[in-house]
Amino acid sequence: MHISVMPAEVLEYLAIKPAGIYVDATAGMGGHTALIAERLTTGVVIANDRDAESLEMARRNTAAHATRIRFHQGRFDSLGEAVEEAGFQRVDGLLADLGVSRYQLTEPERGFSFLADGPLDMRMDQTSGMTAADLVNYTAEKALADLIFQYGEERRARKVARAIVRARPIRSTLHLADVVLRAVPRTGRLHPATKTFMALRMAVNDEPGELDGLLRTGPELVGPGGRMVVISFMSIDDRKVKERFRELGRERRAVILTKHPLQPSDQETAQNPAARSAKLRALEML
Ligand SMILES: C[S@@+](CC[C@H](N)C(=O)[O-])C[C@H]1O[C@@H](n2cnc3c(N)ncnc32)[C@H](O)[C@@H]1O
Repeated sequence: MHISVMPAEVLEYLAIKPAGIYVDATAGMGGHTALIAERLTTGVVIANDRDAESLEMARRNTAAHATRIRFHQGRFDSLGEAVEEAGFQRVDGLLADLGVSRYQLTEPERGFSFLADGPLDMRMDQTSGMTAADLVNYTAEKALADLIFQYGEERRARKVARAIVRARPIRSTLHLADVVLRAVPRTGRLHPATKTFMALRMAVNDEPGELDGLLRTGPELVGPGGRMVVISFMSIDDRKVKERFRELGRERRAVILTKHPLQPSDQETAQNPAARSAKLRALEML
């Protein structure tokens, strides 16, 4: 089960109004969605995710608040459509808790993890797009190296890419992890395949492009006085959020509510180590 990150901070910065309209852009298992829905009287929360399986679980997990929730499956670029479909034009708050959920990460069939064997899929939306297997088996060595270097910040990317190309066809998550482990021996605590898996996941789901889209269209959807809250887990994502928020501040379109990003308390990270790298930023639209 996914434990929602920074629940108290999310609620504080969204400043939920009981009659407000909210978007949970990354509903996942529905944890944050339920927290928002619980605080609504006549308001509505639009629970969006690109992963149909997760959305189904969110639906079950939030059944007690069903009357206050509208579900929508889609990527960040379809959030406008989700809001319109629910009968609204602007919202009072938008939350994005980026990345993948614990469920996606640990379910072997989804192919995100090298801790158990599974198909090399890694697509958040399993109905469309290239899988990680397509990427590792058909991308040219140089392009693969660039991708692993840029997205995974893996200094040994060229060695990894060469080993992958030699070992083709790569058939499963454990097969890929083994190929990487043989190419670049373990140096620290991190499994040598960690950065390669991260890079592939980002590429398969176009996570950088998705975040750019969210930071462009999100502020358009939030009405004056409304809040936007973004939680990132990777420094490259947090940097983008910081820069875009600053830009909106300079343009006098928003006020930044978090001068520095908020991080989970020691108590939260003790209970949920996966929250460790979370950084939350919030703004209010003018
Ligand atoms: C960290 S989890 C969210 C967990 C959720 N807040 C909860 O409390 O259960 C991130 C979710 O965002 C979804 N996601 C990531 N990128 C997305 C995108 N570009 N469009 C829509 N959903 C996305 C993933 O499928 C995943 O379910």
